[in-house]
Amino acid sequence: MNTQEIINLEHTYVLQVYPRPDFVLDHGRGCRVYDTEGREYLDCVAGIAVNALGYGDPDLLQALTEQAGKLWHVSNLYHTAPHARLAKLLCETSFADRVHYANCGASANESAFKFARRYARDRHGPDKHVIVAFTGGFHGRLFGSLAATDRPKYQEPFQPLMPGVRFARFNDVSSAEEAMADDVCAVIVEPVQGEGGVHPAAPEFLAALRRLCDRHDALLIFDEVQCGLGRTGHLWAYQGYGVVPDMLTTAKPLAGGLPMGAVLMTQRVADAVHPFDHASTFAGGPLVAAVAEKLVARVSDPAFLEAVRAKGDYLRGRLAALGSPHIREVRGCGLLIGVELDIPAADVVKAAYAHGLLTVGAGPNVLRLVPPLIITYEEIDLVVERLSALLR
Ligand SMILES: Cc1ncc(COP(=O)(O)O)c(C=O)c1O
Repeated sequence: MNTQEIINLEHTYVLQVYPRPDFVLDHGRGCRVYDTEGREYLDCVAGIAVNALGYGDPDLLQALTEQAGKLWHVSNLYHTAPHARLAKLLCETSFADRVHYANCGASANESAFKFARRYARDRHGPDKHVIVAFTGGFHGRLFGSLAATDRPKYQEPFQPLMPGVRFARFNDVSSAEEAMADDVCAVIVEPVQGEGGVHPAAPEFLAALRRLCDRHDALLIFDEVQCGLGRTGHLWAYQGYGVVPDMLTTAKPLAGGLPMGAVLMTQRVADAVHPFDHASTFAGGPLVAAVAEKLVARVSDPAFLEAVRAKGDYLRGRLAALGSPHIREVRGCGLLIGVELDIPAADVVKAAYAHGLLTVGAGPNVLRLVPPLIITYEEIDLVVERLSALLR
């Protein structure tokens, strides 16, 4: 099949919820992907902050093929070694005592909501069920996670969503204080908002949320689906803030590009959850867990994380120094970077294809750069060169 035939087939048979550009990706290596016509793209999307180790990483490939030859899936009815070993690694590298597996970011967040409601109901009764979320936050597109996602346009066609969500303004302590009451069972926040335009939380804001949760016996959930696992240059974004949540949700890069999510939690939360309170056929299967074990081991290396911080500083510095009249602000942490423009980000994303560059928007005017964490300085220079040419 040639490129156009593949595109026609997709248009004929696939539900059209994603508009896609008119090329077909075929293979990848490192930080570059190639289309069916042999064109190369420097990838600053990485599967939307997923492919932390890029494409074709030999360690991940080895973990995948070794486990694939042994056991792919047996359900959660049985023990498997990768499932248990990965949980140990996630606990040892974080605040957590226990791990619950999920299949993606949205399902990890919905698991966390269930655990929070379970915890609150057991201690305080059914009235304590409200989840506080924030303007600009993004937690997924399922009924519960969408209810906690401040996007009226995404929500409206699917009402009624999960009830019991209250919104407060992001980075606004008094708004959070107003939203908090004894009916709140959990507060969910992204330490660095990704989809909402790459906005880091202020350290004092996260610290205030911690205090408010403690005061009301509510659980603090950090959604690190996008900003976790090395993206900010810390293994977990909360480690850069020094504010510790009760639960942390992770997904995107966890299994190096295979679908997997997880909820990390303290023993206090785990004690409230009972057998069969929640379940999933696929979550935490041996194949994805074996790959995730390798990914977490690689990404948690302090030298790797230090390099992410240094490369992030370098890329942000170079972008700020471009002096393009279209760039209003460059912000972010590590390799989670937002470039605020005075023109629609979608136009730049589109124009970048011809320059061999993949980027993605985060809101109408923010261009998001989330390359594989293994990007080299030479590749960063090339990204800046291509972006500069296209902005000119
Ligand atoms: C912070 C955050 N939470 C949750 C999600 C939902 O993850 P998924 O698409 O894997 O369901 C996303 C996806 O972009 C995200 O960025």
